[in-house]
Amino acid sequence: MKMTGNTILITGGTSGIGLGLALRLHEAGNKVIVAGRRKELLDEITAEHPGIDALVLDVADPDSIARARETVAASHPGLNVLVNNAGIMLPENLLDPAGLQVAEDHVTVNLLGTIRMTYAFLPLLVGKDDAVVMNVTSALAFVPFPSTPTYSATKAALHSFSESLRIQLAGAGAGVQVVEVVPAGVRTTLMGQQDSEQSMPLDDFLTEVLGLLREKPDGKELVVEPARFIRDAVANGSYDDVLAMMTGS
Ligand SMILES: NC(=O)c1ccc[n+]([C@@H]2O[C@H](COP(=O)([O-])OP(=O)(O)OC[C@H]3O[C@@H](n4cnc5c(N)ncnc54)[C@H](OP(=O)(O)O)[C@@H]3O)[C@@H](O)[C@H]2O)c1
Repeated sequence: MKMTGNTILITGGTSGIGLGLALRLHEAGNKVIVAGRRKELLDEITAEHPGIDALVLDVADPDSIARARETVAASHPGLNVLVNNAGIMLPENLLDPAGLQVAEDHVTVNLLGTIRMTYAFLPLLVGKDDAVVMNVTSALAFVPFPSTPTYSATKAALHSFSESLRIQLAGAGAGVQVVEVVPAGVRTTLMGQQDSEQSMPLDDFLTEVLGLLREKPDGKELVVEPARFIRDAVANGSYDDVLAMMTGS
């Protein structure tokens, strides 16, 4: 991915990693459109950062995605980068019947939302110079966190989906690069870890990810250092130990 001169749509751009990426990429000389459900935050972002555009989008709602596609096609015909970052993460107890709704919400937002966004926006990207789909997954795609079983499963599925997407697009000569971003814990409000010493400060995460992107413009996976031992657990033969660590045993 080139570092400047892109037109980039970022889902989940109202807070945390998505907003952080939006601000850094805007500063670097890209046109950025942030998307999310919280209109008041979108209004604040566009008021505070002239040049950033905003779009109300609920990735759980196919009609909202279809409207967003039509809006962006008309307002930003140069769109060449889609960042699928929107996500939710909540604890889920598989023995509590209420957990089923939590599970379904994760599949709808994290997995189906990304898949629907990809189908909707790929026609706008194919054939563009320097086109990219960037999917934000997680270290938990590679070893699950048992307290968030369906969250972890959606991220494993998104890793798998990203691999197939990359190969199908290359096979079709579509000229769309697929990049997976693999964070470990980052201090955001995702699951209340904004003050956690065990999570990476957001600024450090952004600096490392954008550094990796600069170093490896054709890279498939951007794995930040704290995620590396989880990403490589299977290859290193340490999977059982890492899973036990995730379990707290
Ligand atoms: N922070 C971490 O430790 C960590 C680690 C690994 C992976 N990740 C991944 O990083 C991504 C960003 O998370 P974050 O940590 O930055 O958390 P965050 O601050 O809670 O951001 C989540 C974003 O997703 C958006 N979102 C949620 N549901 C949505 C929906 N139905 N439609 C559209 N947007 C929706 C939210 O915007 P609205 O509420 O305005 O819609 C918000 O902007 C997620 O995919 C997460 O799984 C985070």
